[in-house]
Amino acid sequence: MPKLGVNIDHVATVRQARLTVEPDPVWAAALAQLGGADCITVHLREDRRHIQDRDVRLLAETVTVKLNLEMAAADEIIRIAREIVPTQATLVPEKRLELTTEGGLDVAGNLPKITDAVAALREKGIIVSLFVDAESAQIEASRAAGADAVELHTGRYANAAGTEADKRLGELAEGCELAGKIGLVVHAGHGLTYGNVRPAALIEGFDEFNIGHSIISRAIFVGIEQAVREMKRLVDV
Ligand code: PXP
Repeated sequence: MPKLGVNIDHVATVRQARLTVEPDPVWAAALAQLGGADCITVHLREDRRHIQDRDVRLLAETVTVKLNLEMAAADEIIRIAREIVPTQATLVPEKRLELTTEGGLDVAGNLPKITDAVAALREKGIIVSLFVDAESAQIEASRAAGADAVELHTGRYANAAGTEADKRLGELAEGCELAGKIGLVVHAGHGLTYGNVRPAALIEGFDEFNIGHSIISRAIFVGIEQAVREMKRLVDV
C-alpha cells in the first residue's frame, strides 16, 4: 500500500502572507498525522518564502511519522539538513522566480555535485530521494549518484488531459518499473489532486505519493484531518 506524504508548505504560505505566527505548520503536521498521513513533507526554500528554519526544527522534534525535507542541493541547506537530520531529504531544483518546483532535477547533467550532496546527507543517516522526470537517463543517473530513492515528477501527467494524460501515465509506469529494477525506492508527486491521483496510485511499484496544494486547498473547507483522510483513501490500493 503506497504511503501518503502530506506537503504542508502552503500552511506556512498563509502565515508568511502576514509575517505572523498563524497558521502554524507544526499544528498542521499534528492534524495531518491524525488524518493518517504516513509522512510530513516540507520544502525549506533558499528564499524562505514559506517554511522557516524554526518550522523544520520543531517538526523534526514533534513529527512521529517520517519527515521528508525537500531542498535544493545548496551548501547552506545541506548544512541545516545535516544538523536537523530529517528522516528523508528530497533534492529538488529551485529557481527564485518560479511559483512552485517546475521541472525535475538534472541529475545526469550535474552528477558530481549531486553525488556529493547525496553523500553528505547519507553520511548523517538521512534517506536521500531525487526528484526527477520519468526519463531513463535521469533515473539511471540517480542510481549512479548513490540515491536511495527517486521521486518521479507527476506534473506533466497532472497538466495533461485525454490521450496525452494516458501517454504521461505510461511514462510514469515505465519510469517506476525501471527505477524499481535498478534498486531504487520509487516515490511520485507534484500536481496530484483528488481528481487525478487514482490512476497514478494504481500503477504498481510506487512506495510514496507526496501531495500538497490540493490537500491544503480542501483543508480550508473541511479541515486538515478530513482532507488527508479522503486523499489517503484514494492512494490506498
Ligand atoms: N513533490 C515535490 C518534489 C515538490 O516540489 C512538490 C511541491 O512542493 C510536491 C511534491 C507537492 O506538489 P503539489 O503541491 O502540487 O501537490
